[in-house]
Amino acid sequence: MTAMLSQRLPSVAFAALVAIAAIAAITASATAHADDAPPPGALDEAAVQSTRAMATELLNQLGQTLKSTLSAQGPEAAVSVCKEASPSIATSLSRKHGAQMTRVGTRVRNPAMGTPNRWQQEALAQFETRLARGDAPAALEYWKVADDGKGQRELHYAKAIMVQTMCVTCHGTAADIPASLAEKIRIEYPQDQATGYSVGKLRGAVVVTRPLP
Ligand code: HEC
Repeated sequence: MTAMLSQRLPSVAFAALVAIAAIAAITASATAHADDAPPPGALDEAAVQSTRAMATELLNQLGQTLKSTLSAQGPEAAVSVCKEASPSIATSLSRKHGAQMTRVGTRVRNPAMGTPNRWQQEALAQFETRLARGDAPAALEYWKVADDGKGQRELHYAKAIMVQTMCVTCHGTAADIPASLAEKIRIEYPQDQATGYSVGKLRGAVVVTRPLP
């Protein structure tokens, strides 16, 4: 069929058709999901939706805890709360949902907790590319069905975390971070790389790994 078609059509027209088809395929896959992800079946679509809800729940809980601690106790106390509360919120939601949920950074403050693995790095790189070409931050999510290496299917899901005004107190430049707070962060996190961010930049992602049936 393809051979017949290519014989009948002038080769230039055929090449144009192929190019149009390729562009359509790239556009569709880039807006919908990770480039090399299999087309999500009905089951995977539902799994993506519930995973998105889990990621949003984690983001909201972290945001609320941060906001209330900042306003009640100030940023220095909030550093300790971040240290204790963030991992414990992530752990309890992971247990509740039977998934591994955490957050990772484009640069990290806590290397043990926040360093992205390979697929998470791929998700962050994809988010940067999409931001550079003007995609809305709220639309930045990534998912892929993968094998866990033991024959179990699992869903890898990431949702972008952007820098907001309240974040730069602890993740901004030297001008944003009061000296005593910078000192506290340096003592608690001697390997800190997570400063120098400005509002609107990609800070990291909420990441979820979930077994699939
Ligand atoms: C009061 C200071 C403070 C504020 C404000 C703050 N953070 Fe953090 N952030 C921290 C600390 C401390 C950690 C390390 C937590 C840990 O030990 O897991 C952290 C870690 C993170 C991480 C995990 C990756 C890493 O670097 O370890 C992300 C993502 C993150 N913060 C995003 C944000 C965002 C987005 C905001 C604004 C909504 C924000 N933070 C506001 C102190 C702060």
